Amino acid sequence: MIAPVKIAVFASGSGSNFQAIQEAIERGELHAKVELVVTDKPAAFVVTRAEKFGIPVLALNPKEFASKADYETAIIEALRECGVQWIVLAGYMRLISEVLLAAYPQRIVNIHPSLLPSFPGKDAIGQAIAHGVKVTGVTVHFVDEGMDTGPIIAQAAVAVIEGDREATEMAIHQQEHVLYTKALQQLLK
Ligand code: GRF
Repeated sequence: MIAPVKIAVFASGSGSNFQAIQEAIERGELHAKVELVVTDKPAAFVVTRAEKFGIPVLALNPKEFASKADYETAIIEALRECGVQWIVLAGYMRLISEVLLAAYPQRIVNIHPSLLPSFPGKDAIGQAIAHGVKVTGVTVHFVDEGMDTGPIIAQAAVAVIEGDREATEMAIHQQEHVLYTKALQQLLK
């Protein structure tokens, strides 16, 4: 049997996408293994989720490093120690520099809650609502040095529920969990 693809999930917040990926793995829908959860926010809820699944967490505070290159080099060492092959960003709120990109060329993906190239950056859902669009969505893309600019892998549309940001957010997150799993199934084959 082919060994599962070793991945690391990077997250700075709640970690619902991480959980969706891990649950897909446990249901046998994704032939992968989350070797490590990497966070720049040791108090983030993703840490609690990872612990529940018994997945090791690397929590590093970037401010404790002399440079971003040093911070990413420390991450790369940990990734190599556990043989990580792909990096899956899921709400990781930092730009990736050329240090990490060079270590994992074409092997870093991200999910963003809009139909890129519309509404890159922070609060994409708020940006879409403020713009008055009727349809927004979700994008999975390869990561480059830009902010949500890399080649697009998969997209799905989600209707904006007028006057109800919470319901719109919920619909987007539900779609994220489905789309990320599907995209990873294809990519990690
Ligand atoms: C998601 O909306 C994702 O698209 C964006 O950050 C959010 C992370 O949510 N990049 P969660 O932490 O996975 O719940």
